[in-house]
Amino acid sequence: MIDPALFRSVLGAYPTGVVVITAVDGEGARHGMVIGSFTSISLDPALVGFFPDRKSRSWAQIAPVGRFCVNVLGSDQLALCRRFAARADDKFADLAHGHTPAGQPLLENAIAWIDCRTERVTEVGDHLLVVGAVEALGRRDEGTPLLFFRGQYHDLAELQD
Ligand SMILES: Cc1cc2nc3c(=O)[nH]c(=O)nc-3n(C[C@H](O)[C@H](O)[C@H](O)COP(=O)(O)O)c2cc1C
Repeated sequence: MIDPALFRSVLGAYPTGVVVITAVDGEGARHGMVIGSFTSISLDPALVGFFPDRKSRSWAQIAPVGRFCVNVLGSDQLALCRRFAARADDKFADLAHGHTPAGQPLLENAIAWIDCRTERVTEVGDHLLVVGAVEALGRRDEGTPLLFFRGQYHDLAELQD
């Protein structure tokens, strides 16, 4: 058995971007969760994926929708990141947002967005692999991504001189 603290510490040395997965359910309730394990998978067909915890309450609410939007957060969206990483009954309370072509919540000022249909969900250890088929996508020309590295948030600007 690998020591969990060592596993987290070593894997935390691999930097990621930060996305919020959003979806609206049949009753109109909006759900969202922060994900660092997002990745592109395939170009033809266009597939993306991420790994939600099997115990995630937010994923349990998003899964039945069968669709989701990936919102890529900018470095000026730390407050939004904290909001969607916390456990709360209504993470969208008092939050203005737009809609994607498929009608999913589109977070204002996200630097990119990807509308997906859930193609496959596979159990992998204590997480799930969710594969999304890309139906529409877009990005802003300006803005830098929010980065997560060694348990802290970073901005690309720090890396430039
Ligand atoms: C930077 C960052 C990355 C995260 N990445 C993931 C992830 O890849 N998978 C996951 O299940 N949770 C991830 N989380 C945790 C969830 O965002 C969050 O804790 C969860 O949605 C709240 O619990 P709930 O889903 O049970 O409501 C991440 C949190 C942060 C702050």
